[in-house]
Amino acid sequence: MKYHLECTNCGSIFESDYASQVCLKCSGILEVVYDGRMPKIGSINYFWDMEKAMPSGRYTHFYLGNTPSIKSKDRGNLRLKLEFLNPTHSFKDRGSAIEVAKAAEYGFKEVACASTGNMAYSITYYAKLYGLKAKVFISDNANEDKINDIKSVGDADVHKVDGDFTKAQGMALEYSKKRNVFLCGDYCYRKEGQKTIAYEICNSGTAPENIIVPVGNATLLSATYKALTEMKKSGSIKSMPRIMAVQSDKCKPLVDAYSSGSKIKYRKPMTSADAIAVGYPTYGEQGIEAIRKTNGKAVSVSEDSLRREQKRFLKDYGLVAELASVSTIAAFDKLKLKGSTVAVITGSNV
Ligand code: F0G
Repeated sequence: MKYHLECTNCGSIFESDYASQVCLKCSGILEVVYDGRMPKIGSINYFWDMEKAMPSGRYTHFYLGNTPSIKSKDRGNLRLKLEFLNPTHSFKDRGSAIEVAKAAEYGFKEVACASTGNMAYSITYYAKLYGLKAKVFISDNANEDKINDIKSVGDADVHKVDGDFTKAQGMALEYSKKRNVFLCGDYCYRKEGQKTIAYEICNSGTAPENIIVPVGNATLLSATYKALTEMKKSGSIKSMPRIMAVQSDKCKPLVDAYSSGSKIKYRKPMTSADAIAVGYPTYGEQGIEAIRKTNGKAVSVSEDSLRREQKRFLKDYGLVAELASVSTIAAFDKLKLKGSTVAVITGSNV
């Protein structure tokens, strides 16, 4: 779909040949704005069936997405969308498949990103597929398994930062500017790729009443809202699901801002759910709007409940899910949701 880019901070407009994901004038984050009416997407059997809802680009059709949504064994109205069945075992591949393709299309030879682990693994993987180099800045809380996964792809230059994700994000931005490298991460093209989870959840118009997503940078949260809005406008779904957002009690800048009605403030991440240890979510304000506009809720869950649900998940399904992922199941219980609900189980890299 034809598009242009708009800065969410200063309102500057860029054409689609603008080869960056941050604003030239103020370094604000950009948003993909489509130039026509979003088409109705029919039945989805394959990730690239949703290409019509993506920024026009030169994408290689690698296989990903189209993950199963299984019935929970013990919670009647709950389904679990198994995103760890993506190529690098997290939902991140959906965004990487879009943004790394864009980097290649613009002629870059290298991409850079900050990450708590999963996004770097995914970007490194797609960079390799597109023949690009990857420089990744990993926060100091990342688990060694994730760092080994990144290295196993080969060619990645892994820089472990002496600090958290927010520090790593600053370093990746700096590096990309100095070296003229395409900055990847939680930015506009990833957001477009992450929309596909909601498209699949509402495949053929079957929208649940609630969708629960974990929050780190809130890209998935704001992408989910964007996708639902597009589907509602195009008539693909009749009613909007409510979006529920979950963080850990030990890292909840979005939940705090939502509850107090104030702007998001940085909070030092103390959670052992390393994937969502993000002190200042890039898409936080957009994420809060997504919750409010859909009459959803933001909730935090205890670290104990994460560990309990992780063990239970392995026992019930014989599958490993990481702590960040099972936060959505803990949130389902805490919110006592009655209507049909899909919890996104985002990753399994532990
Ligand atoms: N679940 C998993 C497994 C993640 O890896 C992340 C984010 C999230 C949930 C939260 O998604 O950021 O869109 O709100 N991981 C990032 C990373 C921060 O670097 O891998 P979000």
